Amino acid sequence: MAHSPQSVFDLVGGEEPIAAMVDAFYAYVEEDPVLRPMYPADLAAPKRRLHLFLVQFFGGPQTYSQERGHPRLRMRHFPFAIDQVARDNWLRHMLRAIDAADISEPARSRMREYFDRASAFLINRPDPLQIED
Ligand code: HEM
Repeated sequence: MAHSPQSVFDLVGGEEPIAAMVDAFYAYVEEDPVLRPMYPADLAAPKRRLHLFLVQFFGGPQTYSQERGHPRLRMRHFPFAIDQVARDNWLRHMLRAIDAADISEPARSRMREYFDRASAFLINRPDPLQIED
């Protein structure tokens, strides 16, 4: 068997709900003044990369790595200034997208926990220290 029977990929029933989630996510990104400028004008390629990555990460086919190699997400995100605001916006859009795609428990919670952690890990521009006198 190619993947664990309890993978999120199997729980949601395959690629389609993940595609729906990624579509919803990018529709929110389109409207986001902080995030939109970080992405290229044409969102088709970013959409495909995120879709393939999530399919792979959640236990489905490993097409992402065949096309892109090791994910190296910290490194690949370094060119983008990801501070707390960018991260919070990204996460809020993804949490809404999970619900827009009708992903039900227990996959929903597993996805929420993963996105919460992964997005915090990708912050690469810490907020300046607030020094009070
Ligand atoms: C924390 C806020 C985040 C911001 C602002 C952000 C922004 C971006 C941007 C601007 C790109 C380039 C678009 C492209 O060419 O594909 C990108 C790529 C990507 N992001 Fe994020 N991202 C964030 C978090 C995440 C998280 C949490 C994940 C995974 C769970 C993720 C997965 C990816 C993947 C897989 C790619 C494509 C990598 C590649 O193969 O080149 N991102 N992201």
